[in-house]
Amino acid sequence: CGIVGYIGPQRAAQVLLQGLQKLEYRGYDSAGIATLNEGELLCVRAKGKLRNLAEKVEQLDIVAHVGIGHTRWATHGKPEEHNAHPHRDSRDRLAVVQNGIIENYRELREQLQARGHIFRSETDTEVIPHLIAEALPATPSANGLLEAVRQAVHQLEGAFAIAVICADYPDELIVARQQAPLVIGFGQGEFFCASDTPAIIPYTRAVLPLENGELARLTPTGVEVYDFEGHRLRKTPRTLNWNPVMVEKQGFKHYMLKEIYEQPGVVRTCLEDYLRADWDGDSPFSPVQLPLDPSLLENLQHIQIVACGTSWHAGLVGKYLLEQVAQIPTSVQYASEFRYAPPPLLPNTLTIGVTQSGETADTLAALEMELKRRQGLEGALQPRLLGITNRPESSLGHLVPHIIDTRAGIEIGVAATKTFVAQLMAFYLLTLELAWQRQSCDRPRLAELVTGLRQLPAQMEQILESQERYIEALSHDFAETQDFIFLGRGINFPIALEGALKLKEISYIHAEGYPAGEMKHGPIALLDAKVPVVTIAMPGSVFEKVLSNAQEARARDARLIGVTPLDEAEAQHTFDNLLPVPEVDELLSPILTVMPLQLLAYHIAARRGLDVDQPRNLAKSVTVE
Ligand code: G6P
Repeated sequence: CGIVGYIGPQRAAQVLLQGLQKLEYRGYDSAGIATLNEGELLCVRAKGKLRNLAEKVEQLDIVAHVGIGHTRWATHGKPEEHNAHPHRDSRDRLAVVQNGIIENYRELREQLQARGHIFRSETDTEVIPHLIAEALPATPSANGLLEAVRQAVHQLEGAFAIAVICADYPDELIVARQQAPLVIGFGQGEFFCASDTPAIIPYTRAVLPLENGELARLTPTGVEVYDFEGHRLRKTPRTLNWNPVMVEKQGFKHYMLKEIYEQPGVVRTCLEDYLRADWDGDSPFSPVQLPLDPSLLENLQHIQIVACGTSWHAGLVGKYLLEQVAQIPTSVQYASEFRYAPPPLLPNTLTIGVTQSGETADTLAALEMELKRRQGLEGALQPRLLGITNRPESSLGHLVPHIIDTRAGIEIGVAATKTFVAQLMAFYLLTLELAWQRQSCDRPRLAELVTGLRQLPAQMEQILESQERYIEALSHDFAETQDFIFLGRGINFPIALEGALKLKEISYIHAEGYPAGEMKHGPIALLDAKVPVVTIAMPGSVFEKVLSNAQEARARDARLIGVTPLDEAEAQHTFDNLLPVPEVDELLSPILTVMPLQLLAYHIAARRGLDVDQPRNLAKSVTVE
């Protein structure tokens, strides 16, 4: 979900709608705003995408200068208008928007109902306006609303970021944060709040991310921050070095396509920032310059990676590299599994959290748990945590002391593309650094990998230039297709998973990624002429094996699509269609092989007329468990 708030001289409804539009990637099954004008609270909500709300708002011509808004990703209660935020108290004097989950809402709701409160939705959020209303003084007082919100948050269990307005306090907007993101924006005589910076950046670059256990009062004259005990805190906003253009489409039909095209640039920036230009195979220093404390990587015996979704796939590529090149045993776990079944503690362990949003609740919770269970332990069991993200200013950045900023910047398309490639780059760099330190890889091999990395941006551009048209045309063939299989082996197995996930996410076609050698143990039963099989076949350790696995599929009449450097003559007995990629070192190939798969998913979905940037039921930033 995404929340926004505004107080200042502009018409609040417009600012809120624009902010919600920028946050729509966080959830889009219903939306709403509430505004205050001359002591009147007005609440407008609509089911479905934001444009439904915008149409309603336009008809109302709202002049108010204070308001809050919300775009929802349903957790409790169906995506219907009565469940859309903002939610109000029984007297319609107070409105609240929330992102997160209130875990004890059932018992709070029963208690409130017993005391006569009337509920109008099935959401967990609705308890909040009722709790605040109960704590308000009978007649408005200087700190009445602030104090009532403070008392209410003490009764809430779970994760939340809230924004509150009240008709009896026409010049105030109160926000509070506990385990869900919230940023305050400082303009000239106007103040903003939002779940994420894109909603604020068109107005100001001066932002203050609230921390857990903090609340703030926004008025037309300024912002006051307090802790949940009511103590005033001194805080200074920081200036983001972003510009509003970074969150625009720049002529591309969809953000996803724009972000696919940004990938060569992202890799280039990563190399410029983290690979030493003056390094050659004879240099007495490491080729990599990561901003990490040396003690973090010393004497590592084990690495554990926690992540979700696409970031988990990046973790799998990371494991391959860390084990095969740096020779460090590495495990990769879904954060949502790790947090409830952590493995036994091992000494000298580095835990890496990978997340593009820096806000995924499960990933943050897994890291927090690892930190807690090691805190106070001595020597080799001490916690060592590293975050890999493109959003170093996120909650992850607060939680974890060491961060590799992947330099991908913000991503708007819900299906991750450039942030994934950038996460892979972080793993290449980390692996090279460790391989250098531990001398697990000989100099000529290290030099080969460094040279190969430097060539990647040009090769990526070559794929975009030579293939987009062809893939667009090819996508027409799959208008009726219902199932896809993606095969890969070794370091390209995670890319097969990612190819399948991309297609599922945005085209709603069922797709499975499989290690090519496993196909014969199950998925082969699915194959017939209607099921295309996309096979990643890159020269290297498993090339011949993959080609024979592809043959097994072809023998079942499946249509075979090869992601491979083979030319047509070489490939004609194996593949029906080719998505050519330049021949590269097998270890570096995932950066290239993922690109045709992203384009294929994109064009199939766009061809079907689907909402590529905001696929149904998904959200960019999943801040609930
Ligand atoms: C959501 C997004 C996915 C993403 C996953 C993990 O489900 O839709 O694209 O891979 O969350 O997100 P994270 O921000 O932790 O990488």
